[in-house]
Amino acid sequence: MRSVSLVLFLSLILLAFNAGHILPGVAEGKSREQKVWARAGSSAVLPCHLSPRKMKQLPEKTSVLWKRHGGSAHQEPHMVLEMDSSGLRKTALPMRPRVSVQHSALRNGNFSLRIHPVRREDAGLYEAQVAYNMESHSCQVELGVITVTLSPPSPVVENEPLLLSCNSSHWANLLETRWFHNGRLVPTSRTFCSLHGTLSIPRPAMSDAGSWRCQLRYSNNEIVSAMYNLKILGFDGPTNPVVYAAAGSAADLPCTLSYLPSAFGVKMVTAHWSRLAGGRLQDRGTSQNSSSRSFPFRLPAVGPGDAGQYRCAVSVGSKTIRRDVTLSVITVTPSIQGPVSEGSRLLLICSITHPQGHEFFQWKHLNSAPTNSKLAVATSHHLDGHRSQIGPTMEIPQVSQKDTGTWECSVYGPEGRLGAAEYGLQITGAQVSNPPTIFSGQVTFGLMLTLFFLLTVCVLALALRKRARSPAFPGLEGMVAVTVPRKKEMEENQKEKIQQTEC
Ligand SMILES: *[C@@H]1O[C@H](CO)[C@@H](O)[C@H](O)[C@H]1NC(C)=O
Ligand SMILES: *[C@@H]1O[C@H](CO)[C@@H](O)[C@H](O)[C@H]1NC(C)=O
Ligand SMILES: *[C@@H]1O[C@H](CO)[C@@H](O)[C@H](O)[C@H]1NC(C)=O
Repeated sequence: MRSVSLVLFLSLILLAFNAGHILPGVAEGKSREQKVWARAGSSAVLPCHLSPRKMKQLPEKTSVLWKRHGGSAHQEPHMVLEMDSSGLRKTALPMRPRVSVQHSALRNGNFSLRIHPVRREDAGLYEAQVAYNMESHSCQVELGVITVTLSPPSPVVENEPLLLSCNSSHWANLLETRWFHNGRLVPTSRTFCSLHGTLSIPRPAMSDAGSWRCQLRYSNNEIVSAMYNLKILGFDGPTNPVVYAAAGSAADLPCTLSYLPSAFGVKMVTAHWSRLAGGRLQDRGTSQNSSSRSFPFRLPAVGPGDAGQYRCAVSVGSKTIRRDVTLSVITVTPSIQGPVSEGSRLLLICSITHPQGHEFFQWKHLNSAPTNSKLAVATSHHLDGHRSQIGPTMEIPQVSQKDTGTWECSVYGPEGRLGAAEYGLQITGAQVSNPPTIFSGQVTFGLMLTLFFLLTVCVLALALRKRARSPAFPGLEGMVAVTVPRKKEMEENQKEKIQQTEC
C-alpha cells in the first residue's frame, strides 16, 4: 500500500516536472503527445522544443535521440536520428536522406524533426529524448499521413479522365469527403463526382488546374485535410484558335503548351503537325525539343487553298494531346480586274474563308506619302466620299485620281484586330491621259481664275487709255458703255484683240 502511493507520488512529480520543460501549447490537453498531419510528398515537422528558460542554462553535454515506435514493418522502437553534444548526427535507414534536425538545435533548443518528403509509410508514433546534464526531456508526436493520388499519374493532360483521391492513415471510419477548388466547395455534379474520397473529373480543362483540398471527416468526428496543387498540361490560348492571314502573306499557326514538359519530368516531347483535308491527315513536319513549349507551324505564303483546319499533336511521354487550329485566309476581290479607268464604279469585296460569325470589317485608304505612317487612317474627306467604309464591301461610285494607292481591309473580332489584306488601286486615265493631273479639279479652276483676272485688268487698262485719249467727248465714252452689253461677241473679240496687243 505504501509502495503504491510512493509510485503514484513519484509519477505525479515526474509529470509536473516534464510539463515544465514543454512549451505552452505543445502539450495537447493532459497528454504530452501531439498529432501532426502531412500530405505524402510534402514536408512534415515533428515539434520538440526546450523552454527558453531551460535554454538560458543549456549545458555543454546535450544530445537528442529521435525514435520511432512501431510502424507496420518495424515492431520494435528504432532510431531515426541521433545528435550528440558535439553536433555529430547519425541517421538510420530507411528514412536516412529525408530526416533532419536544425544545425543550431543545440543552441536554440529546437529539436524538431523535419521529414521531407513524407511517405505514406512514415505514419506512426515518434519520440524524441533530449538529454542535458543529468536531466532528460521527451516529446511524443504522432505523424498522420494523407495521400492524394492522381489516376492516371502525372502529367495530367487536358481532356483525359482524371481521378483524384484522398486517403489518410487515420484509424477511424471515413464518413465524408469534401473537395474544395481554389477555396470554394465543389458541389457534386456531372462534371465532378465524389465517391469514397475519390473525385472524378471526366474531362479536365485548363480551368480545373489550381489548388485542390480534400477534407476527410472520420467517425470520431476528427477532420483532416490536404492540399494539392494540380497542374494540367494543355495548350495556351483559346480552345479553337483561328489564325487570319492575308493571301500571299506568311502565317504562323500556334501550338504552345501550358507548361514546359520538363516541369513534369518529361524528357521526350514530339510535336506533329497535320492538315485535316479530305478526311486524310497530311504530315506537316515534326520537331523534338523538351526545353521548349512552343511548336508553331509556319506557312511562308498562304494561298486560298491553304485555308482550313490544321492539327498539332504533341506527345509528352506516353500521352498525346491535340489542338486544332483553323487558318482563315483574307482576300480582297475587286469588281474590275486589272487597272481601273477613271470615273468607273468600283467595288472591293473583302472576304474570309472560314468566318466564325463575329468578325467585322473596316476599310482604310493608306496614305502613300513616305512621311506618313503606313497605317494612317484616310483623311475624313476621303471617307465622306464613300458610304460603305464598314462592312465587307466598299464602293467607290466614281473612281478618281485621289483614290489611287493602297486600300486596306482590316478584320476585327471581339478581341481586337485579327488581320488585314491590301489592294493596290491603279487608275488608267481614259479621258485625259498625258499628263493626267494638270487639268483635273482644282488646277483647272485656278487657271480659269487667273485668265479671268488678266482679262479684267486688260479691260480696265483699255478703258483708262480711251478716257485719256478723248477727254473732250464724254458722250463717246457713254456710247461705248452702252454698246458693250448689247454686242457681247464683238466685245469679247475686242477684248481678245486687246489682250493680244496690250498684254
Ligand atoms: C524548428 O525547426 C524546424 C525545422 O527543423 C522549423 O521548421 C521550425 O520553424 C523551427 N521552430 C522554431 C520555433 O523556430
Ligand atoms: C488507404 O489507406 C489505407 C491504409 O493507409 C490502405 O490500406 C488503403 O488501400 C488505401 N486506399 C486507397 C484507395 O488508397
Ligand atoms: C530547344 O528550345 C530551346 C528554347 O526554345 C532552344 O534554346 C534550343 O535551341 C532548342 N533546341 C533545339 C535542338 O532545337
